[in-house]
Amino acid sequence: MRTLRPDDAGLVEAAVILRDGGLVSFPTETVYGLGADARNDRAVAAIYAAKGRPSFNPLIVHVADSVAAQRFVTFNDAALRLAGAFWPGALTLVLPLKADAGISKLVTAGLETLAVRVPDHPVATGLLDRFGGPVAAPSANPSGRVSPTQAGHVQAGLGSRIDAVVDGGNCAVGVESTIVSCVGAPALLRAGGIPVEAIEACLGQPLVVSDDPERPVSPGQLESHYAPQGSVRLNVTSQRDDEIFLGFGPMEADLNLSEAGDLTEAAANLFALLHRLDEMGARAIAVAPIPDKGLGLAINDRLRRAAAPRP
Ligand code: TXA
Ligand code: MG
Repeated sequence: MRTLRPDDAGLVEAAVILRDGGLVSFPTETVYGLGADARNDRAVAAIYAAKGRPSFNPLIVHVADSVAAQRFVTFNDAALRLAGAFWPGALTLVLPLKADAGISKLVTAGLETLAVRVPDHPVATGLLDRFGGPVAAPSANPSGRVSPTQAGHVQAGLGSRIDAVVDGGNCAVGVESTIVSCVGAPALLRAGGIPVEAIEACLGQPLVVSDDPERPVSPGQLESHYAPQGSVRLNVTSQRDDEIFLGFGPMEADLNLSEAGDLTEAAANLFALLHRLDEMGARAIAVAPIPDKGLGLAINDRLRRAAAPRP
């Protein structure tokens, strides 16, 4: 795998790799994505193969702006309002796929909807502009493992299986996009980088939430995900001797998501600290309680999956 710089030459090279059906990882404001031409069946199939991702789990398509998104999906009033308020940004909208969109069926895993997002990162946007087409991109981690927020995480997880990574440094938000379906009443499919409270305020109504874990509305919302090598125990106020303690707020801890108790900082640090725990060879991890509001919803969602029984 080659590491490309986030300058014009690097982005042109990355765009050429995409055009040739290759796989390029690139930074977004949430996490690094693993990109391929969303219209090219073979390229999209290569994403599933590189990640070891089950083929029933559809991918998010990244586009440069809302105008580009309109070529692929149909917007209703709620979707227009959300896109206007939060794009570019950490919000993915699930909308009806247009029949003539030309998106590979592997991207949607056969669904009649498509997840789309306009990322808010100069490297992602620079790549989308130079490529000029829709880019399918899941997070650039092996399926079930911790998502990458640095180029080094991509190298460690997928280095031998992809063509290149564009190194754009750390991802500022640090957790994946919030996913909202606007097919029917607006529904939350995944908590993420845009707080649910902000989305509900924008819509002037609460989001529908599916709370049946046996029937994930987003096919990729599997119980075990984001798993570090070690076991994970949550809401811990006193750690056991064999555990490494991941704190939140002012407290004694081996590592701390945010000493200031700031949820935005904690989200930005979350995956990098889980990767660090892997590097340290942590066998047992204990995590302090995190408030369940704002970005805390997304952080707790990821931590619950990290702690879930593994297949
Ligand atoms: O922040 C993000 O969203 C990152 C960056 C790279 O953009 N991407 C990301 O992709 O998190 P991924 O593949 O790791 O997660 C995509 C989620 C999966 O849970 C998948 O099931 C869901 O989106 N999804 C994709 N298409 C869908 C659809 N048509 N309907 C419902 N859920 C969908
Ligand atoms: Mg993922």
